[in-house]
Amino acid sequence: MSKQPSPHKEAALAAEVMRRCDELGRVSDDSGCLMRTFHSPAMTCANTLVGGWMRAAGMSVREDAAFNLLGRLEGSRPKAPALLLGSHLDTVIDAGRYDGPLGVLVALAALQSLRRDGVVLPFPVEVAGFSDEEGVRYQTTYLGSRALAGTLKKSDLNRIEEKGIEKARRKRGEFFGYVEAHIEQGPVLEAEGLPVGVVTGIAGQSRLRVAFTGQAGHAGTTPMALRRDALCAAAELTLAVESCGVTATVGQLDVEPGASNVIPGLAVMTLDLRDASDSKRAAAVAKLKRQAQAIAQRRRLQLEWRRVQESPSVRCDAALSASLGRSIAAFGLPARKLPSGAGHDAAALSALCPVAMLFVRCRGGLSHHPDESVRKADVGIAIAVLADFLRRLGERHV
Ligand code: HGY
Ligand code: MN
Ligand code: MN
Repeated sequence: MSKQPSPHKEAALAAEVMRRCDELGRVSDDSGCLMRTFHSPAMTCANTLVGGWMRAAGMSVREDAAFNLLGRLEGSRPKAPALLLGSHLDTVIDAGRYDGPLGVLVALAALQSLRRDGVVLPFPVEVAGFSDEEGVRYQTTYLGSRALAGTLKKSDLNRIEEKGIEKARRKRGEFFGYVEAHIEQGPVLEAEGLPVGVVTGIAGQSRLRVAFTGQAGHAGTTPMALRRDALCAAAELTLAVESCGVTATVGQLDVEPGASNVIPGLAVMTLDLRDASDSKRAAAVAKLKRQAQAIAQRRRLQLEWRRVQESPSVRCDAALSASLGRSIAAFGLPARKLPSGAGHDAAALSALCPVAMLFVRCRGGLSHHPDESVRKADVGIAIAVLADFLRRLGERHV
């Protein structure tokens, strides 16, 4: 068998990754949909399952203080700084089975490919299954990877029940880079007929919680002009989101008291704003805040405006990205560069070491949805690219 990785040669490993994504896709906190949130029973189960696959691939396995799963494969120079690979194992609600797990399992498969071919790298490699990228449980995205990067804030720690997760912090210099494979979660690669691409940067994001407080009352007897309807205010702000100038979403809206014949006295909504430019995103947040204040004033409501999460946009490392590009080109494919509108653990890890990302085509660009899907052949290409990338890195390190 040739010593060089090739997409065709990785077909068996790709089939195994697809099977494992299916198996993980059945590990859920909710019997009706796929959902795994920070430190939940399903996450514990997922760590056990993936940890077993890591051990079978010859890795030592542990769970750190932030419940991140960490597999480690020593190289010929155990004391050398390591390369970190991986992605997250938590999910959104009613999730697809590839957002996160595909990156963890492609990383593991790339190491299995090298082991099969008898290649020993001169540096250690760790594969992380991060415990909370989505931030569903505490609205604190990148909780696991920020704990490992040592960038958690007091406000994060105060918001979560679990104590001591900051002890997961790793030292600067322990890793010379972090590389994450992830589905694109967008339509570009599919539209251009490409299986993989190299990420240029990750959009910054602002997550906010906005509450309008008015007056609950009788739906039948309260004249329209006298109402202080919290939901109508939230509806106005929701429509304003569409013209705020950046990618913006109202993902949650809770109304109280929530009866059909009672005027809503309270409406609580989330805002999620993204852009590659931090200044554009900041301007959009400020514009929406002014609009929310004007709506509240006109409707005689109280407004509570709270920033929950702020992550700056991140540039991927040019050298690591160029090396990923060379590995893609080695298989006769164009190394398409593209930005990520989605957030990724790589954004958090950029505080600790240089980062790079490999995108994998996904059907219709659909994600955060149970119909999320990838092609087995593209997974084989991603494994071959990552294995080639690791070999090249190893050859340069000696
Ligand atoms: O929301 C995001 O962009 C990512 O999937 N957490
Ligand atoms: Mn993800
Ligand atoms: Mn996601």
